[in-house]
Amino acid sequence: MGINSIGILTSGGDSPGMNCAIRAVARTAIGKNISVFGVLRGYQGLIDNRFRQLDRSSVGNILQTGGTILQTSRSEEFRTKEGRKKAFDNMKAKAIDALIVLGGNGSFKGANLFSDEFGVPVVGIPSTIDNDISGTDYSIGFDTAVQSAIEAVDRIRDTASSHERTFIVEVMGRKSPSIAVHVGVCCGAENIVFPYKDVSYDRIANDIKSGINKGKTSSIIIVGEGDKPGLSYEVQKELENNHNLKAHVCILGHIQRGGAPTHQDRFIASKMGNTAVSYLSKGNIKSAAICYQGGEVITKPLSDCFETKIDYEKNYLELVRSLSI
Ligand code: F6P
Repeated sequence: MGINSIGILTSGGDSPGMNCAIRAVARTAIGKNISVFGVLRGYQGLIDNRFRQLDRSSVGNILQTGGTILQTSRSEEFRTKEGRKKAFDNMKAKAIDALIVLGGNGSFKGANLFSDEFGVPVVGIPSTIDNDISGTDYSIGFDTAVQSAIEAVDRIRDTASSHERTFIVEVMGRKSPSIAVHVGVCCGAENIVFPYKDVSYDRIANDIKSGINKGKTSSIIIVGEGDKPGLSYEVQKELENNHNLKAHVCILGHIQRGGAPTHQDRFIASKMGNTAVSYLSKGNIKSAAICYQGGEVITKPLSDCFETKIDYEKNYLELVRSLSI
């Protein structure tokens, strides 16, 4: 089947670099005489018939911007068969042959169901700051999010040292420890608390106290958020109530999801967007994911990317502790 028209949407949490991928998709498609329709507000926009044709200039000057020019949502209606049928009817009415979805593994599962039900080829481009999608080493936005968190923690270190304080800094990532690990290593944190893992408060308290005895002027504990923000307050309470240690809490939150994409995010997103269109333009009707593996952008079955990848990187906790003595 020849592809004459592609739809593209962004779904779930936005991530820096999404705009680079949108630009690459639009420009590659236009170069191949394929029309491109941006779908506004994710799957919900597909249901609500919110399309905008993208031309060369409508994706100009967006490479350097965070967020998504298409906007995003977490659509409940798309979870229903009726919602997906409406979405398909709207795509058909616009004669759109294939869909490109930028999002995480949840968005990919929805895409696959849609593809199975209505025979629409869907290509997923991994995009989430959490970097937790199985099947790919990298998802767009992770590097920028880590960089933003590093800059924030460096600032906290300045004031922590001046006041000889301990700070507990909570980073995003939901179930994934990836942001916590990278920020912990790169900021010289004294400890990392991973969500869903037993926390040894004795060990954390001993590390802080022995640091103070050695003349350290500050301690930073990085906390991975888990299901919802706030785990840091538990850590704070434990340290204060049971170990007589005072600590300040700073939850970085959505600051990590905005901002100009880094070189890595721009580069990989551009390559992924280009590869997605090349894949479809060859007449491929099977759904697929564009993955990053061994330093290469490759195409895989979409079903390889449905799981949440949780690498509990125990060795990195030891690395962090051994480098912060
Ligand atoms: O996009 C991923 C993510 O930023 C997670 O790290 C975080 O837990 C979640 O989204 C927050 O989502 P929301 O902005 O919908 O509260």
